[in-house]
Amino acid sequence: MEIREFSEIPPDLLQQIGRLRVQAWETETVRAAEMISWVDRFDHAARHWVVFAGTLPVAAARLSIHQALADVPDAESYAGVFPQTPTPPIASFNRLVVHPSARGAGLSKKLDMIRLQTAEQAGCRSAILSTASGPARVRQLTRLGFELIGFGPRFQTPPLCYLPAPAVLLCRLPHCAVEIPAFAGNR
Ligand SMILES: CC(C)(COP(=O)(O)OP(=O)(O)OC[C@H]1O[C@@H](n2cnc3c(N)ncnc32)[C@H](O)[C@@H]1OP(=O)(O)O)[C@@H](O)C(=O)NCCC(=O)NCCS
Repeated sequence: MEIREFSEIPPDLLQQIGRLRVQAWETETVRAAEMISWVDRFDHAARHWVVFAGTLPVAAARLSIHQALADVPDAESYAGVFPQTPTPPIASFNRLVVHPSARGAGLSKKLDMIRLQTAEQAGCRSAILSTASGPARVRQLTRLGFELIGFGPRFQTPPLCYLPAPAVLLCRLPHCAVEIPAFAGNR
């Protein structure tokens, strides 16, 4: 498998990622199947990492950097949760998906670590994330240095709006413990 980074994502690949997002979320909510593809306006400005099995994308994740909490993707899911606004620049981790056939191989952990390192190198002071994926995902993130701040209002857009209220996590940067182990084909 090969991980590739994109600062501008080609339109054809974005369509494939949009489809992959739907397929990945179908295991969490059957309502995801009502969607053909899932892309949004942040896709054009974000940095993307895509894991390929041959030519096929099997996992993807996105990072966008913001000066204000109100500007991050899924901003509604953070409303009223942080006792103090995260220090900007704020790195928003979102749209992590791993195809069911590629799960359990450490891809999500790898994509989280790459994003943490990228946020740190970009001078971000906070990394934030809201997730309705459940306690296993929260545990995975706290092991990486995120802190569970609380639970936010439910997401407003499909497919996430069909899931329970999200956990909101924060990692204060710089966070020196991020080291990315070698990965076949990484570049
Ligand atoms: C959550 C998800 C990205 C995990 O991908 P993955 O590549 O299989 O994860 P990894 O192999 O890196 O890690 C597996 C670990 O993730 C944990 N985990 C995190 N979220 C999980 C979830 N929703 N279901 C099952 N396990 C999950 C497991 O407990 C396991 O822990 P371990 O390292 O102690 O064994 C994948 O299941 C997925 O795409 N789910 C649907 C979309 C989603 O929930 N995205 C995350 C949004 S924040």
